[in-house]
Amino acid sequence: MTTTGIDARGVGPRAVLLTGATGSLGGELALALLTHTRATVYCLVRAADQSHATDRLRTRMLPLTGHPYPAHRLIAVRGNLLAPDLGLTDRDHTELSTVIDTVHHCGASVHLTGPYRKLAPANVGGTRSLITFARHIARSSGQRVHFIHISTLATIVPTPIPSALRLDEATPPCHQVLPDLGYPRSKAEAEEAARDAHGNGLETTVMRPGVIYGHSGTGRTSDADLLVPLLRAAVALGTMPTGAGAVPADAVDTVARAIVELSRYPTAPGHTFHLVRRTQLPLTDVFAALPRAGYHLRTLPVEQWWQSVQEHLDDPQVAPLAGLGDMAAYLLAAGPRYQHPPVHSDATWTALAHCGMPEQPLDPNTFDRLVDWLINDGALPPPSPTRAPIPARHRMEAPASAGRPDTTPAVGTPAPASGPGSATRAASNQQQLR
Ligand SMILES: NC(=O)c1ccc[n+]([C@@H]2O[C@H](COP(=O)([O-])OP(=O)(O)OC[C@H]3O[C@@H](n4cnc5c(N)ncnc54)[C@H](OP(=O)(O)O)[C@@H]3O)[C@@H](O)[C@H]2O)c1
Repeated sequence: MTTTGIDARGVGPRAVLLTGATGSLGGELALALLTHTRATVYCLVRAADQSHATDRLRTRMLPLTGHPYPAHRLIAVRGNLLAPDLGLTDRDHTELSTVIDTVHHCGASVHLTGPYRKLAPANVGGTRSLITFARHIARSSGQRVHFIHISTLATIVPTPIPSALRLDEATPPCHQVLPDLGYPRSKAEAEEAARDAHGNGLETTVMRPGVIYGHSGTGRTSDADLLVPLLRAAVALGTMPTGAGAVPADAVDTVARAIVELSRYPTAPGHTFHLVRRTQLPLTDVFAALPRAGYHLRTLPVEQWWQSVQEHLDDPQVAPLAGLGDMAAYLLAAGPRYQHPPVHSDATWTALAHCGMPEQPLDPNTFDRLVDWLINDGALPPPSPTRAPIPARHRMEAPASAGRPDTTPAVGTPAPASGPGSATRAASNQQQLR
């Protein structure tokens, strides 16, 4: 049995089945697969019929590609992780069974504070159904199928957190996951199902992103970005925290590219990767972009700031953060109870260096672009021009070439746009915030 999806000879995947392409990370992953492989990408899309599926995929991709994508390489397939046989028509089932060599499973019900019983059917049941289908493909094609499972770092942080805990790629998912919510538990079970499926015709690789923030080049972000409710709350309250913690994080385009590169790394199967920067992202660096953009904010110690967030539940700009409850308190490290150990990603970056994707230094303008994008998208009110003095931007150590952030997309960089990933949507749906 051979594995066609692994890049032992520079071949790469030929045909990929991707779930979650209409979502925040999945859309970027579809783009990365189009850009960095020669594969045909079949996207499982929830829809009323085939033409609706095609429309949904096109709508998601247009802001990313800036122009219609090559239709022969990105193909919508109507389906549903909750339906028997993934809701595929007999024809699609047969066609996919004969062509697919790689599965990227990015689809999930991503509601950070949702109850387990609501999330498990898609996250656990859907993963098991997809594994069953991947096994069927391996049997019918006589070739191993590479199953890449997109998990989350939330699967490995136990609660309560032991004082000396090392969290790295070798840490298995745990059942007492932080902070005892349905989402991490459902994702931990899904990851276990994927790990257990390794062998017997399947080769599985687990990818664990942390906090995924906006595009590194354009700042374009989505309501999946956990930094967005932090920034919106700070602007609405007129305050920002000092002493907030640091989080394992990376930009959405870097995460998507890393998934593509690692998934064709010859020794990837059977391994787990952490898709976060080597150094945790200090949230103070994120908040610091607000005064540089012209917002006049007072500072409060993080515990006081979190208290003030919880006192403003009725404010629609603050509610998305307050509604995250303990999840937000852990994110901010808002007090001794909410401290968390760093997450290591050294093994991942070693593998990525072998793939020709070394870690890039964090561009000091990254969060200026994010804030600019949120202002242009309407997710943040523009800073008042009457408020002065406006602190100079880019006080952090900027590369010699850094001036005002260039929000003009570089050639080949997708244009910023709203759409399914619009941060505006975040205002109306706090449960959708991840
Ligand atoms: N965003 C983060 O910060 C983050 C961090 C760590 C890990 N992750 C993981 O990354 C993956 C993508 O997350 P995301 O933030 O991109 O989420 P997202 O924007 O909510 O996208 C979720 C995707 O899954 C699809 N989906 C949900 N239920 C489905 C079903 N029953 N059948 C078929 N498709 C279904 C959605 O389709 P519809 O468009 O039809 O709803 C959408 O395409 C998830 O596995 C998540 O756990 C995300």
